[in-house]
Amino acid sequence: MVLGAIGLALALSACQPVPDDATLAELAAARGRRIGTAVEPSHVANPDTAAFIADEFSIVTAENVMKFGPIHPERDRYDFAPADAIVDAAVANGQQVRGHALVWHRQNPTWLDEAWTRDEAIAVLEDHITTVVTRYRERVVQWDVVNEAIDDTGAMRDTFWLRTIGPDYVALAFEFARAADPDVALYYNDYLIERAGPKADRVAQLVDDLIAAGVPIDGVGYQMHVLVPELMPSANALRHEFERYATRGLRVAITEMDVAHILPSTPEKFAAQADAYDNAIMACLAVPACDTIVFWGWSDADSWIDAEFPGFGNALLFDRSGEPKIAYERIRGVLWWNLQPPAA
Ligand code: XIL
Repeated sequence: MVLGAIGLALALSACQPVPDDATLAELAAARGRRIGTAVEPSHVANPDTAAFIADEFSIVTAENVMKFGPIHPERDRYDFAPADAIVDAAVANGQQVRGHALVWHRQNPTWLDEAWTRDEAIAVLEDHITTVVTRYRERVVQWDVVNEAIDDTGAMRDTFWLRTIGPDYVALAFEFARAADPDVALYYNDYLIERAGPKADRVAQLVDDLIAAGVPIDGVGYQMHVLVPELMPSANALRHEFERYATRGLRVAITEMDVAHILPSTPEKFAAQADAYDNAIMACLAVPACDTIVFWGWSDADSWIDAEFPGFGNALLFDRSGEPKIAYERIRGVLWWNLQPPAA
């Protein structure tokens, strides 16, 4: 049997150290995955940061500027410039873009606060989704259409959209997105669905209902905002969660991963953090439908955790002075050696 060049490279990689100059993007590409980070316009405006992002990652998500409030600040006015800056830079660098997020309960504009009838709210939803998705056609490859529609108890989250439209706002959002772009992959995105439990089950039910109704959904995004040591499932448990959707014919993405701990940091906490990233990447590599891995930033100096969860932090791959952490080296290692969790 002839061992092809790629087979040979993979066989050799089993015993070779990770090449020093291999970026995450290159290592992930060799495994058929794209790997990325959340970005802000300020990042792509800074030449050094922009070069780093272009080098290291193959996909980016706008951390904030594609959300409803930032991109649609008044009913008759959209503000596309910040999102355009991110999309233009990504396209120029040959990177892909995840769109985030068309419908969410946070970061909405104040003009949505007035009293709306169901029909008016549907018209607002349709205008918003049609306008934003159409603008980024052929440049955004995946959209988070609905974000966090299920609350932590497993109920439909009490949001503006649920109150004014009813539970079918979810299906409507997917329909509007598909009508605006027949090719983009459409995702339901949520947190804490990496652990088996009522929330994960309820999201699976929601997704099943959408599929049964013929609603155009292509994938499920696992945000994966993880806390260690308490909240990290094993690679095998995670693989089972991912397979829920793979067996339904959907794609799976890790969309916002970070791994926080209670400060102060210790070597043990950084080791647990590296284990958590390792588990997630291993599980993703074990499930062919899991083709995208995005971190919610790269530098501990610039993460949402500090502002939103005081007392927690240092959740990303590079420390506050820009040095790679053991989590970064572990991720490179697991991509290079392609370790698999044991079959259940
Ligand atoms: C966060 C951003 O990182 C912050 O800058 C912002 O203040 C709040 O939102 N789940 C999501 C993301 O889907 O959009 C959130 O991003 C983090 C939690």
